[in-house]
Amino acid sequence: MNTPLAGLRIVVNAGPTFEDIDPARYLGNRSSGKMGFAIADIAARRGAEVVLVAGPVHLPSPAAVLRVDVRSAAQMHQAVMDALPCDIFIGAAAVADFTPRAALDRKLKKQPGQDVLVLELIKTRDILAEVAAHPQRPTLVVGFAAETNDVAAYARSKLERKGLDMICANQVGLPGCGFESDDNALLVIDGSGERPLGPAPKHALAASLLDLISARLRKDTA
Ligand code: C5P
Repeated sequence: MNTPLAGLRIVVNAGPTFEDIDPARYLGNRSSGKMGFAIADIAARRGAEVVLVAGPVHLPSPAAVLRVDVRSAAQMHQAVMDALPCDIFIGAAAVADFTPRAALDRKLKKQPGQDVLVLELIKTRDILAEVAAHPQRPTLVVGFAAETNDVAAYARSKLERKGLDMICANQVGLPGCGFESDDNALLVIDGSGERPLGPAPKHALAASLLDLISARLRKDTA
């Protein structure tokens, strides 16, 4: 078997996070987790020791992967930090940027005549940026950026702002690609340039992305 990633520990996060408002309601997003699960699956098949921190998704665990299930952005942050140190971190999760200031322990009731409800949200911690700035920083930190417009420019600014080695940008809303789909198209950006991958099934894209990551790792550690 071809195991080019043998000896490497890779942490991947995947899926959405759910931020509880009360015992019956939450704020979530449309991430299916398929891209991150495909990356974890292929990385394990290539011999890596893989930790997959999964938000609430309906996907079977890839073989030979240590899966840690979480619900909220705060839990995902903790699980990722607990999984360090590692050689490569791949942040494929759609982590909530904001969370309710406090989850209510009773179901929120609408008041008679109430037309407006104001929910106070506070910023979550940026897992990817914290991993990139961590004292035990992985050799490679790879992020994702879902954008609706100016994809390359926004992704490049995230690469710099969050201190990443590589970012995979995808355009939200391309027909047949993205959140709930089995296919996706990525623009992979690093310090040396841009490279389009796909459109292709997420497993094929994960394989191509891991080829790029392996090549980059070889270059950086040569
Ligand atoms: O800033 P934005 O959310 O668009 O960046 C997307 C990238 O940042 C993804 O890789 C996502 O996993 C990561 N992220 C994170 N923690 C957050 C928000 C985003 O790790 N709180």
